[in-house]
Amino acid sequence: MRLKIGNRCYAHAATSKKIKSATLASRSAVVALLLLSVAFGPAQADDRQLQRGNYLVNGVVACGNCHTPKGPNGHPIQDLELSGGVVIEEPGFRAVAPNITPDSETGIGRWTDEQIVNAIRNGKRPDGTTIGPPMPVGFYRNMSDTDVLAIVAYLRSVKPISHQVEKSTFKIPLPDSYGPTLPHIADVSPDDKLSYGKYLAEIGHCMGCHTPMTKGQLDTTRLGAGGRELPAFPAGVVTSANLTPANPGGIATWTDAQVKDAITGGVRPDGRQLVLLMPFDWYKHITPSDLDALVGFLRTLKPAQP
Ligand code: HEC
Ligand code: HEC
Repeated sequence: MRLKIGNRCYAHAATSKKIKSATLASRSAVVALLLLSVAFGPAQADDRQLQRGNYLVNGVVACGNCHTPKGPNGHPIQDLELSGGVVIEEPGFRAVAPNITPDSETGIGRWTDEQIVNAIRNGKRPDGTTIGPPMPVGFYRNMSDTDVLAIVAYLRSVKPISHQVEKSTFKIPLPDSYGPTLPHIADVSPDDKLSYGKYLAEIGHCMGCHTPMTKGQLDTTRLGAGGRELPAFPAGVVTSANLTPANPGGIATWTDAQVKDAITGGVRPDGRQLVLLMPFDWYKHITPSDLDALVGFLRTLKPAQP
């Protein structure tokens, strides 16, 4: 049982430990132990949680697109995973993504699970200060308990890196709160393809880049209409695509396979390579069924102009 994503490999540690310590026992005892650990073992549950967290962070959620330093080619430096320092400049702010590795001095190693969940879903640090943009808190507010805890488990599993990061500066006011704390958020069933696709697009904050702004707020009446000028890497700006059917050459005229190639590989049907801002290095790990759900959701966008 292995899951390999982004150079990480999780062997079924608990099970292999059991096999080693059971070498003196009879073969049938080993089989019984294995069956037991597969069916009931708490290690199995933890493993599944870690795998889910690994899948989300290295896939559609792509925390590393902001929190992991990138090399000169614009691709993430895996050895520096989630250690922060990435500067994101927009007219209203100069944001510096913090170190979110488990380093206890410079990262979030001393934060409790609850405090990390509160940072992700409510945009609040343990000292009560508000986390500013472009951390997409608004899109994380409805992340299910299962998924946010899986992400916390994954964050705790990455290599702690000592990296003191400078503070962000904001010219725009930050909200006191992003809304009330929701005590419990249920899972969205993957069997409900459309709702699940919408959920994935939300925790992947696709619409955070692909929706126009009016007076500093995302204009949700024009969801997916694009037209946003975003800072490209290493310099310049790139305009986010209009994903709605109002775009004459847009995805409404592409096959599902073509849309998936754009999301996971950054290539358009006309062969043009999309600018590396959308996190293709992470999206390439999205499973085929999750891609189906995402594309299904994109197909529901209403025509709108940027
Ligand atoms: C679009 C960029 C972006 C994405 C994606 C993003 N973050 Fe952030 N995050 C930031 C920035 C920038 C800050 C700091 C904002 C500030 O200084 O107020 C931040 C702050 C944080 C903090 C507070 C840390 C501290 O020491 O203050 C945590 C925790 C965090 N992010 C976790 C995550 C996790 C987990 C994910 C994925 C689920 C994620 N972020 C996705 C940009 C991002
Ligand atoms: C960090 C910002 C950002 C995020 C997050 C993002 N995108 Fe994009 N996306 C862009 C930009 C910018 C372009 C246009 C790039 C170019 O033209 O070279 C683009 C292009 C696309 C295209 C190609 C469309 C066309 O007509 O060329 C598709 C499809 C797409 N995005 C879907 C998605 C989906 C689905 C998600 C979420 C899973 C997502 N994007 C998340 C910024 C983003």
